[in-house]
Amino acid sequence: MLTEITAARDAALVEIEVADALDHIAALTTRLAGKKGELSLLKRQLGSLDTVEAKKAAGQAINEAIAAVGEALDQRRRLLTMEMLAARVEAERLDLTEFVGKPSRGHAHLVTQAWERLEDVFIGLGFRVAEGPEVETDWHNFEALNMGEGHPARGEFDTLFVDHVPPGGKPGTTLLRTHTSPVQIRTMLNSEPPIYIVAPGRVFRRDTPDATHMPVFHQIEGLVVDRGITMADLAGTIEAFTKAFFGSGFTSRLRPSYFPFTEPSAEFDIQRPNGDWIELGGCGMVHPNVLRAGGIDPEEWSGFAFGFGIDRMAKERHGVEDIREMYTNDIRFLEQF
Ligand code: PHE
Repeated sequence: MLTEITAARDAALVEIEVADALDHIAALTTRLAGKKGELSLLKRQLGSLDTVEAKKAAGQAINEAIAAVGEALDQRRRLLTMEMLAARVEAERLDLTEFVGKPSRGHAHLVTQAWERLEDVFIGLGFRVAEGPEVETDWHNFEALNMGEGHPARGEFDTLFVDHVPPGGKPGTTLLRTHTSPVQIRTMLNSEPPIYIVAPGRVFRRDTPDATHMPVFHQIEGLVVDRGITMADLAGTIEAFTKAFFGSGFTSRLRPSYFPFTEPSAEFDIQRPNGDWIELGGCGMVHPNVLRAGGIDPEEWSGFAFGFGIDRMAKERHGVEDIREMYTNDIRFLEQF
């Protein structure tokens, strides 16, 4: 009897050892270790043994064999489960370091490219980069720029107001800056002349998007305040910038215009080598009221300022038909630049 038990146990252990799937283990569990399993059936034969000692010894041997088989099944099940999980992880693994064919590197958005090149060109001309907040006060955006309450020019800036009342302030005086010109005021207030800065940044107007307008766009502001600055310095700077940014085949001109914060004021245009003129932005000599609002004495100092659209420049430079295309983030469009 004992030999039979040992033989049954060893045969069972071999079967378990070679089982290579979880459902195989499940079947073996029933057949080998279950209530009606091979080892349990041996128990029925205990009655045929002669002595109590022999029965006891055989019963114990059967229980030990069942325990050993159960233990082996558990171990095998755990091992197969781990192997299966490992295989699944391996199968579902994404190798993020792997690429097929040519690696495709991203690059800066075309407006960012224009922004950065503009900074480079102006830094090359001796300017420093300044910045200011996108959420502005009415005072910095209008009042200090010689556009007092009720000034008709305010109407040209379709202003988006922010629901925020500053401590001690009035409702409706917090807004999204409509141009980068408030950075002129902030720079004059926090530094001493001579001032040579450009301030690129995001601006906002209550506009319906179309081929040439977006409610959010970008401008670059320029401000120079020094002794004896004249309109000739302004024209020279615009011309130097035009050649440096667009190329030596381009030229520029100023046309009389009006802005409350400059006097005299002008629009500046650039001319393509093919003769076409493109309107780029506004400029002029900083109005004495604006210098005063910035804490600068107009008797001692004078200056010029300019402002133009970065998106418009990127559009012109790359021949983009519709400015909205620059903001739909269609990779097929963006990767061309
Ligand atoms: N801020 C003006 C605008 O947005 C442009 C400008 C800037 C004009 C500086 C003159 C001087 O239209």
